Amino acid sequence: MLGKSVTAMENFTAEEIRAVLSAARKMKQIIRGGDKKLPNLRGKAIVNLFFEPSTRTRTSFELAGKYLGADVVSITGGTSSIVKGESLRDTLRTIEAMGVDAIVMRHKAEGAADYATQVVKPVIINAGDGAHAHPSQAILDLFTIEQHKGRLAELKVAIIGDVLHSRVARSDVYAMTKMGMEVHLAGPRTLLPRFFEFEGVTVHEDVDEAIRHADVINVLRIQLERQQAGLFPSTREYARVFGINEERLRLANDDVLILHPGPQNKGLEISSEVTYCARSAIQEQVQNGVAVRMALLDLTLNGGTK
Ligand code: NCD
Repeated sequence: MLGKSVTAMENFTAEEIRAVLSAARKMKQIIRGGDKKLPNLRGKAIVNLFFEPSTRTRTSFELAGKYLGADVVSITGGTSSIVKGESLRDTLRTIEAMGVDAIVMRHKAEGAADYATQVVKPVIINAGDGAHAHPSQAILDLFTIEQHKGRLAELKVAIIGDVLHSRVARSDVYAMTKMGMEVHLAGPRTLLPRFFEFEGVTVHEDVDEAIRHADVINVLRIQLERQQAGLFPSTREYARVFGINEERLRLANDDVLILHPGPQNKGLEISSEVTYCARSAIQEQVQNGVAVRMALLDLTLNGGTK
């Protein structure tokens, strides 16, 4: 994977996904070991370029690069010359001219990361482009599931909510089906896209049907900032019909694992009880995000640890 840009899960083979998961297991052990500083990316420079808000993804990419010994600089849309009208292309080329090895990028436009791979040479890691893709999130979801279930193949996962605007859902669907998981999607009809009608994916309008006997439930945030008016019922109606609460959880398997990429709208798509219940791995997802991003950076910038 040396030199590979990470823009979408569609560009990953199952074998590459397994390689990242395996590297992430080692990274997780290292983080737990106490001394987190590795020499793997010493002498490399990474710029985090974020044009959309982020807490988890930006911080974990920054820590991941630093734990591997790289120099990491984070800039946000609001603090860059984009506010003075500089184009994305010129911004990328300016960063490239400083000799960076990778650009981790989040942008509101679908295709922004792929565009970046065409205009500059550093490795591009997509940290979210509009409603299109969020590959590192999909891999950390797989990693968290595998840590709990010991496998991925044939597990039933239900992805619930605003599937239409979710780059997490899109990347999850491609990553999970590649790993042999059975994916069920459910949410309001207005928020369910048709482009997921392929093998391994079942689309439901009834949430209860999707989560019956599920091994994993991934609850999505309602992306009000990406929605046109009229797609969303009232918040009370949404919580009642589509929200994941303890009562609804009884339909799933007893050992169901609850995921949410964060940030959460508590009381809307997920209840507080579910967020904090024993089956929730939401905090662990955040922790695993650092290990997975270390694995991705090490594989693409260093060829992995021999
Ligand atoms: C997600 C994102 O930004 O796509 N969050 C994240 O990266 N953890 C999901 C979301 O914003 O709902």
